[in-house]
Amino acid sequence: MSVEVYEGPEGLAEAAAGELASRAAEAIEERGLFTLVLAGGSTPRATYEILTRDYAGRIEWGKVHVFFGDERTVPPDDEDSNYRMAREALLDYVPVASVHRIQGELPPDEAAEAYEEELRGFFGPDELPRFDLILLGIGGDGHTASLFPETSALEVHDRWVVANPVLKLETTRITLTVPVINAALAVYFLVAGEGKADALAHILGGDADPRAYPASLIQPQGGPRWMLDQPAASKLP
Ligand code: 6PG
Repeated sequence: MSVEVYEGPEGLAEAAAGELASRAAEAIEERGLFTLVLAGGSTPRATYEILTRDYAGRIEWGKVHVFFGDERTVPPDDEDSNYRMAREALLDYVPVASVHRIQGELPPDEAAEAYEEELRGFFGPDELPRFDLILLGIGGDGHTASLFPETSALEVHDRWVVANPVLKLETTRITLTVPVINAALAVYFLVAGEGKADALAHILGGDADPRAYPASLIQPQGGPRWMLDQPAASKLP
């Protein structure tokens, strides 16, 4: 794994946008397309806004296929929708080749099955999808995507997408599973804020119990890339 620390959330977002653009150029050069999984929550919004502001003409958006790592069980125009956040910060402004949204408005199991079918339609039915880049965040509790501590999705190895009941949030989330995330060609964690420092110290300290800190389960080939701001990194050894 690699760990990079940037002064603040702006520096982190600038670096993430630049690295994403390089990764896109490489993939398009090699394979003619770039398959990108967007993260939800609030941290990646700044990166998406910088992509809109500074990279509208510097990425071949017409060869970029956009997917989502997880979604809340809400309609696409809901303020809690990850799709809505990404649309307002990026997708409304760049002409991507395709957007594959998780239908959070459907019954959770139906939404998960529909998204898995969509991924099998795009990548082929048999082999695990190999996304070019997956963006992830982490919560203060060490969750990533919607893989929360002590939840059933952590044990799923034969599905690509699942509905994951999260009792402590009294809700169900739709999320990619660990095997799919770990099959990606690259995974970048974008993590900002002191609120994530304790979880990061456990996860990067190497003593994390994966059921308690699910982000530690993310081990793609070559390891994940941790892009942190100073406050998030404040408790690292
Ligand atoms: C979500 C995300 C989730 C997020 C973390 C961090 O749907 O909320 O996929 O995994 O990345 O909760 O969220 P913040 O960036 O808002 O701190």
